[in-house]
Amino acid sequence: MSALHAKKIVLGISGSIAAYKTPLLVRALIKAGAKVKVVMTPAAKSFVAPLTLSTVSNNPVYSEFVDNEEEVWNNHVDLGLWADLMLIAPASANTMSKMAHANCDNLLLAVYLSAKCPVYFAPAMDLDMHAHPATQHAIDLLISRKNIHIPAAEGALASGLEGVGRMQEPDDIVAFIEEDLASSLPWIGTKMLITAGPTYEPIDPVRFIGNHSSGKMGYAIANAAATLGAEVVLISGPTAEISLHPSITHVGIQTADDMDKACQSHFERSQVVVMAAAVADYKPKSTKIHKIKKKNLSEEIELVPTVDILKKFGENKTNQILVGFALETENEFSNALDKIKRKNLDAIVLNSLADEGAGFKHDTNKITFIAANGEQQHYPLKSKSEVANDVLHEIKKLIDA
Ligand code: CTP
Repeated sequence: MSALHAKKIVLGISGSIAAYKTPLLVRALIKAGAKVKVVMTPAAKSFVAPLTLSTVSNNPVYSEFVDNEEEVWNNHVDLGLWADLMLIAPASANTMSKMAHANCDNLLLAVYLSAKCPVYFAPAMDLDMHAHPATQHAIDLLISRKNIHIPAAEGALASGLEGVGRMQEPDDIVAFIEEDLASSLPWIGTKMLITAGPTYEPIDPVRFIGNHSSGKMGYAIANAAATLGAEVVLISGPTAEISLHPSITHVGIQTADDMDKACQSHFERSQVVVMAAAVADYKPKSTKIHKIKKKNLSEEIELVPTVDILKKFGENKTNQILVGFALETENEFSNALDKIKRKNLDAIVLNSLADEGAGFKHDTNKITFIAANGEQQHYPLKSKSEVANDVLHEIKKLIDA
């Protein structure tokens, strides 16, 4: 999957002849899975039609602070905050100079100054303009402020001269950004299967066997992994609504059997499997169609074990890294190590209910990560999103070992 998948991109187009290539650039970004909104300087409109860009981007094109036809204010702050990344291509000498000096006389510059996301810029101009110390100084200033420079290429220029100043080709710009993002996304290319939440095993139309799992830990691991570039499938039992990274494939299930079925179809293709779900250990042998009268409950519910999904995976794994969860109240470490052996795991995340703030319903957790060779990493009480990153860090160590 491209590192641009599901990324929201504001493409800023400034006034340079290279702007005629931007419809192809929008296409290439969308093909990589990105969503694109275009902001143009007034000068850019002489080189490429806004209608073309709105058609290929499937979004309105912005260029004025106020849209006079609609009588609406084009909110530059909203656009800047919407973006996961901003790309200014072509970046003319004029626009780069204004970016470097906080000159804000058009919407593109206002969006740039409001954006909190990474900003890439791809200069395009004639070779002498590009080589001029003032232009090079503006480029250096932008780089020194962590804007990412997509250097101009060498070749034939619109002036008829040859030299450095051509905006890079749309496909090369996309490849540049993908590579740059991938280098900061250590989990890119990794397919991950994660389970979360409880399972509900129905007794009759009104009752079920379940547990207090909120799903927060599994969801946090899924979100952290996706943010670091992993391709995540999250299979979860019933939970309150928790927001998910847009690239995650989410499969909602109810019972252990549902979870087993959903997991089977993703297990083989996954490189890392993290089973954070609190699967019910027992289920009623059969689900009654009618509500059982309370006086008959104890006779009518016959319990049978649910399928142990993790154990099955341990028996069938080929080269997956398999990580389980354990919740223990006594003999924590020996029980956890025993579970690693019984289920043929690569590691287990141990959380103890005895710790204040750790466990099911909290937003915090305290874990020990135990590898199959017995090595233990103890972590202090942290937020579940921080714990998720610790778990991923430990799994990465197993992969790289
Ligand atoms: N698990 C599973 N399928 C089950 C039960 C558990 O995949 N039917 C997974 C959980 O997702 C978790 C791990 O197995 O990763 C927990 O193991 P388990 O033996 O169920 O631990 P406990 O619930 O602590 O059970 P025990 O009472 O045996 O300690």
